[in-house]
Amino acid sequence: MTLRSEISRALSANAEQRGVFGRSWEYFDEIGSTNDVALRAADRGADEGCVFIAGAQTAGRGRLGRSWHSPPESGLYVSTILRRPALARWITLAGGVAVAHGIRESTGLPVQLKWPNDVVAVTGQAFRSRRKLAGILAEASSGAASIHYIVLGFGINLRRSAFPPELEGRAGSLEGELGREVDGGAVLAAVLAALHRVTADVAANGPARLLESWLALSPAAHGAAVEWDGPDQVRTGLSAGLDADGALRVSTDQGVERIVAGEVRWK
Ligand code: BTN
Repeated sequence: MTLRSEISRALSANAEQRGVFGRSWEYFDEIGSTNDVALRAADRGADEGCVFIAGAQTAGRGRLGRSWHSPPESGLYVSTILRRPALARWITLAGGVAVAHGIRESTGLPVQLKWPNDVVAVTGQAFRSRRKLAGILAEASSGAASIHYIVLGFGINLRRSAFPPELEGRAGSLEGELGREVDGGAVLAAVLAALHRVTADVAANGPARLLESWLALSPAAHGAAVEWDGPDQVRTGLSAGLDADGALRVSTDQGVERIVAGEVRWK
């Protein structure tokens, strides 16, 4: 079965669990970046929850100016639109929790999160033996006074594929981890249902439960040796949970530091 037909079947089966997400969706065999498609659609007034999916991307974008490896029929490359400005500050963590829960529920694979929202598979005790299976890129369009809309894009590596040399050993796929075939439509349907639950909960009750869910998915957010690039030198410390605004806390010799952006490496 093609990815497009897996998606069509799975989205017809769980419509009532997804709220607005995927109420309308469009599939492209190949496109530059689904985030660009969604940003343009949002600009033209497309509804919240419209979903854009590609079988391959020729200009997939990742965080921190990186590209996202998006070969044909190997992954889910998906973007959706949110029109709730109040969610903007939580969308990075919410996207990670939704993708991780969706993968866990649809495949049983016990994925974890690496701050802020890399979805990883971990073998053994060492967090450094993780392989990244999925990533999330949120982009917002804002005016002088407020945010107009947010595009939430996520890429999930479904099938084993040849990764470029710089990703070899650091990236993995759901099928590679599980050693069996995975229904990409079922994964997408479960992620969109989880996104509906997580965003509805933050909108109604605030972020407390989101932060709790995020921490439960990220054992390495406490007590793990980490390093990151400071202004002049590499800094090191021990992860010490999340602040109320989602910043990563790290205990260092100089006290507790807050990491709000960029990348943290687990040593
Ligand atoms: C990361 O660097 O971890 C974020 C990767 C996000 C990739 C997805 S694939 C679908 C959407 N379109 C893009 O161009 N990027 C995101």
